[in-house]
Amino acid sequence: MEDERKNNTSSSSLPSLCKQLASSTLRGSLELDIPVVDLSVSDEELLVREVTKASEEWGVFQVVNHGIPTELMRQLQVVGKQFFDLPEAEKEAVAKEEDFEGYKRNYLEGIRAWDEHLFHRLSPPSIINYKDWPKNPPQYREVNEEYTRHMKKLTEKILGWLSEGLGLPRVALTQSLGGEMAEYVIRVNYYPPSRESELALGAAVHTDIGAITLLAPNEVPGLQVFKDEQWLDVKYINSAVVVIIGDQLMRMSNGRFKNVVHRATLDKENLRISWPVFVAPRGDLLVGPLPELTGDESPPKFESVVYKDYLHQTIKNWTLDKLPLY
Ligand code: SIN
Ligand code: FE2
Repeated sequence: MEDERKNNTSSSSLPSLCKQLASSTLRGSLELDIPVVDLSVSDEELLVREVTKASEEWGVFQVVNHGIPTELMRQLQVVGKQFFDLPEAEKEAVAKEEDFEGYKRNYLEGIRAWDEHLFHRLSPPSIINYKDWPKNPPQYREVNEEYTRHMKKLTEKILGWLSEGLGLPRVALTQSLGGEMAEYVIRVNYYPPSRESELALGAAVHTDIGAITLLAPNEVPGLQVFKDEQWLDVKYINSAVVVIIGDQLMRMSNGRFKNVVHRATLDKENLRISWPVFVAPRGDLLVGPLPELTGDESPPKFESVVYKDYLHQTIKNWTLDKLPLY
């Protein structure tokens, strides 16, 4: 188990980090801003440098002028909110069964994390279960399919710049995730206003298990990242997408990229909704430091693990450790 843990996070294991964090409060600081990368610049070398530096130093950044139409992002938010506004019985119709997909509402005792969400696969088409996609509102599917096309384009661009930042061909990271078979999954997180906002979290402290996450938030702040021993608020920027480096990019880059520790707080007065799209390797792939990045001078810092085993083990550890608090 200890060995498994060692694989999970960059420096210390998440449970021990959580203990260290236990004394901090839920207030974040705005003193340091997470990097913002403007993708409208035509100098690709500059983009490679900026995206690579942000992934090495922060493990999180926001992108603006990313090419996803603002109207599509608005529609994504409208259809998501319309789903959560449905009567409970209708939402329960897409309720989770055994799998992780579908709608779920719970208040996790002991973890103190609100968790009402809708989870479903987006790509590749062969893994999609449309029964886990809402039928209501009727535009839900079309909007999410269009959004997926944009997510894939943007992800591949970012992975291309990150590959070049590692000194590899542009396609290296995308291919290592399984190319067209890389898995895209969306989770719509719905955090109602909470009078307990000082006691409970919306999302418990964690790192993302997959490779990279592209998150669109509504205008209510709540996402916080842990850096330099403090929690920092991720500022809301209209139409920006928040990019979060997950465990697998940290492992594939042999520790050069950081898997940022983050959490989501609840707002006392306002409804917060976020739309993270998780990009993960194909489940059967063996994932570890890329061979081109390791050698006598830089031995692999992580064991290679079949991705679906990594995923299951990490989720099991989260449950056993009763993930965390603050
Ligand atoms: C998460 O990381 O699981 C959720 C983050 C957010 O809601 O902003
Ligand atoms: Fe996350």
